[in-house]
Amino acid sequence: MQKILFVCLGNICRSPLAHGVAQQYIKELNLAFEIDSAGTSTWHTGEAPCDNSIKVAAQHQLDISKQYARTITKDDIQKFDYVVAMDKQNKVDIENFGFKNVYLLGDFGMYEGADIPDPYFFNGFEGFEKVYTMIALCVKDFIQRIEDRRI
Ligand code: 4NP
Repeated sequence: MQKILFVCLGNICRSPLAHGVAQQYIKELNLAFEIDSAGTSTWHTGEAPCDNSIKVAAQHQLDISKQYARTITKDDIQKFDYVVAMDKQNKVDIENFGFKNVYLLGDFGMYEGADIPDPYFFNGFEGFEKVYTMIALCVKDFIQRIEDRRI
């Protein structure tokens, strides 16, 4: 089974959304993938996703409240076939940790390599809908491309 790891900085805002969207999508399409997410930092280990990510996911019939944050590990380097970063700094951090062939989520969908904005410092809920929309489009395109053997 192909395994995909979505990574951001804290593993509480963006990558939990990517993780949840991917799980929902593969279930809908009856595909066999293993999906997980992690952060490059240790700052929020063990925490549930941030309230606004839980809220925007719920508005899209997606429950991500049972996820909890963890940090990337050396074992992940062997385990996962695809590792996907949320922004360019994030990609550099993941590569410096030892991962090879890290994908940038914004290279998929229609965003021409844009970073998924870090919503942790947004003021309130505004902005989370845009982040959700970007993530959902890019994650689905990413999985579709794997299925079509285009990556
Ligand atoms: P994430 O967002 O990388 O999308 O989970 C962040 C969460 C926490 C922090 C930064 C970004 N932080 O500085 O604690």
